[in-house]
Amino acid sequence: MHTALTSSSFGKNFHWGVAISAAQNEGAWNLHGRGASIWDDFARKQGKIKGGGRPLIACDFYHRYKDDLLLAKAMGFNSFRFSISWSRILPEGMGRVNKEGIAFYDRVIDACLELGLTPFVTLYHWDLPSALQKEGGWASHQMLKWFSRFVQVCTQAFGDRVKHWIVLNEPMGFTSLGYMLGKHAPGKTGLQYFLPAVHNAVLCQAEGGRIVRANVPRAIIGTSFSCSEVHPHTQREDDIKAARRADILLNRLFIEPLLGRGYPEEPGFQLMDKLHLHNKAWKYTERMQFNFDFIGIQNYFSTTVRYQPLIPYVQAMEVKARSRKVPHTAMGWEIAPDSFYRMLKRFWLYGGVKEIMVTESGAAFADQVLNGQVNDTERVDYFQQYLQALLRAKKEGVNISGYFAWTLTDNFEWAEGYKARFGLVHVDHTTQLRTIKSSGFWFRNFLLG
Ligand code: GAL
Repeated sequence: MHTALTSSSFGKNFHWGVAISAAQNEGAWNLHGRGASIWDDFARKQGKIKGGGRPLIACDFYHRYKDDLLLAKAMGFNSFRFSISWSRILPEGMGRVNKEGIAFYDRVIDACLELGLTPFVTLYHWDLPSALQKEGGWASHQMLKWFSRFVQVCTQAFGDRVKHWIVLNEPMGFTSLGYMLGKHAPGKTGLQYFLPAVHNAVLCQAEGGRIVRANVPRAIIGTSFSCSEVHPHTQREDDIKAARRADILLNRLFIEPLLGRGYPEEPGFQLMDKLHLHNKAWKYTERMQFNFDFIGIQNYFSTTVRYQPLIPYVQAMEVKARSRKVPHTAMGWEIAPDSFYRMLKRFWLYGGVKEIMVTESGAAFADQVLNGQVNDTERVDYFQQYLQALLRAKKEGVNISGYFAWTLTDNFEWAEGYKARFGLVHVDHTTQLRTIKSSGFWFRNFLLG
């Protein structure tokens, strides 16, 4: 079906990486001066996390980082993406710097460099310090000041060795799930939280870029967006319009102000009208832009929506992959490599995008350890299809310079707890035993030949 896939077709300097994040992997939630984050608080609440799992130990990356980095190296990767826990560095969000927190990331960065893994540091991957949430978190106009301080501290501490920076991870993810739908930390619902959170994230992503540029010589700076191709369920006008509204939220809301286009506009879309209205009153709108060196793309599914007047603001509802009987992962996410290809082309065609890196890509399946092995053929197939799609876009001129598999080890999958497994390496979360899955071995053969 496919032509044989070789890693050399992606070019010599291609970044092959795995990605993890602090809240999902580190554990050590209260060790060595770390302050609490919104995920520690949220996971404590009854019924918020499937199976009741909490990120207290997670994959114990805090203690096992060397072993995990060795695994990444052994699988043939040359780059490693991780995030910094804000409350490990600044336990109260602002104020005092925790030296032991800095020392931990020093160790991780040095270990990466020793192994020949290029470190990619994500500044914000969803774990806001609890102290700042008490003051309103992302919905507070103080966010810009708080975030700027955090970025100053990180770049001054690590900028001598870290050149690759990702400012925000999926702003649509944490603003919508955390401040509109209440499904993620901090569990807020309503436009009074969501709209200011969106605007503050837009300002922080640009300001974060400026601070990295000022503090880190020869920095390569990006920020990461989730994206999903949206299809109308039928060709009826109502469905087509519903798909346009969903497309604004899922694909356009954060990149367009960044590129100087302002917030998207759509007749009859009240939510955007309100955002525009607020925007007039908000300060610093000219500071929404920044010239990033690369844009991070993360595409986990395509989606189909239909008009549903009962859904507030968007009047759109997803028609699930399961009910449409199309191929999907254990999360119920549609597997659609062609739509990944089209999204890469679409983001590339925005004027002002210079380079794209796929900063996350992967899938959850119901993995099982049998006789010490995890034979995750579906995941191998997934990676092959998505890499073929990437290569096709690259050959057609899209400047793509990296691909990061999500994720190294099965980890704390937010509201899904420990049940959803995305890793190339299986983790038994009671013993911390690691078992390389077939997909991990597949990468090893693919990358090292
Ligand atoms: C992304 C997120 C990751 C990971 C992944 C799989 O949206 O950045 O942290 O959880 O989804 O669901």
